[in-house]
Amino acid sequence: MRRNVNVGIITSGGDCQGLNAAIRGVGKALFKYLDNVEIYGMYDGYRGLIECDYKFMEAKDFSGIITQGGTILGTSRQKYIPGKAIVDENGNDLMPQMLNTYNRLNLDCLVVIGGNGTQKSAKLLMDAGMNVVTLPKTIDNDIWGTDTTFGYQSAVDIATNFIDYIHTTAFSHSRVFVIELMGRDAGWLTLSAGIASGADCILIPEIPYDINKVAEGIMQRRKKGRLYSIIAVAEGAVSKDDVVLSEDERRAIKDRMEQPSVAYKVANQLKDILGTMPHVAVPGHYQRGGPPCPLDRVLATRFGTAAAHLIMDKKYGYMVGMQNNEIVPVPLSEAASRTKFLPKDHPLIQTARDTGIFFGD
Ligand code: F6P
Repeated sequence: MRRNVNVGIITSGGDCQGLNAAIRGVGKALFKYLDNVEIYGMYDGYRGLIECDYKFMEAKDFSGIITQGGTILGTSRQKYIPGKAIVDENGNDLMPQMLNTYNRLNLDCLVVIGGNGTQKSAKLLMDAGMNVVTLPKTIDNDIWGTDTTFGYQSAVDIATNFIDYIHTTAFSHSRVFVIELMGRDAGWLTLSAGIASGADCILIPEIPYDINKVAEGIMQRRKKGRLYSIIAVAEGAVSKDDVVLSEDERRAIKDRMEQPSVAYKVANQLKDILGTMPHVAVPGHYQRGGPPCPLDRVLATRFGTAAAHLIMDKKYGYMVGMQNNEIVPVPLSEAASRTKFLPKDHPLIQTARDTGIFFGD
């Protein structure tokens, strides 16, 4: 008798738009082509695998979720020792529990949907002997091996819309606004939203800024009669002074910093130079909430169905990625090896400069 194909699905790390569309893509394609499939949805990311806490998913569970934000399975961040282990708060390796669940459910494969950190921990599962296929999600767009991730475009839309709204009030009151966007240590989201919304200045981690140059740009605008300015700053942006410091030194400064985040730091520094305090606006987690935009629904569906095909072909140990507009399997060892920062010579940076946007460099 033919044995069932058993598949586990996990959504792990910070949520974003398109997770349910991806889950749906995996489930719908598996149910379409296999009449002997069992799907286990692990609750709250790796926690579900560690504690064997799961939902047995039927075909109907994959219907009506493409428009929903968040993840129907829940998610969490699990403590991780880089390249070594997924651990509990006491540092105990949790791999034995995860292997236990994998074997107990007789899984043929685990679909792990996550960002940078999740790709790295999924590689540990693979190294421990589990069959793994991963999907790249994050609003940060910083996963190596794929040109884009789902969640990113939805967040760009939200961030752009947020800046658009601030723009009109900044103009009316002739004010300077510093708007802080997410992206962790990468500037993709801020660069795209900044260009799309016509921000005047963009500060991103990949181009360390000099606050005097930022102030100079604002004063130049004033001289030309543009009395308001919009500065889009990525949460990981760093000044030229700080970029030479070690990570520990930077963390120490951050811990001592009275300002809650980089936007406040930039605003306070500008106040000292310009004489007036710029306004700060931070959309925060709003950027990764709500329904996915159509582009992300399509992308997540393509990624999800591609994962199902990899499983049916028994091709494990891959992340589904997008390269040059084609869906490709990327070896997980490669995808988990590094972070995809914005290259300094990326054409979008020049596009921004061509339209007069300055980077404070
Ligand atoms: O990686 C996605 C992301 O939203 C980053 O942009 C941000 O730095 C981080 O997660 C926030 O994490 P948390 O949801 O744990 O506060």
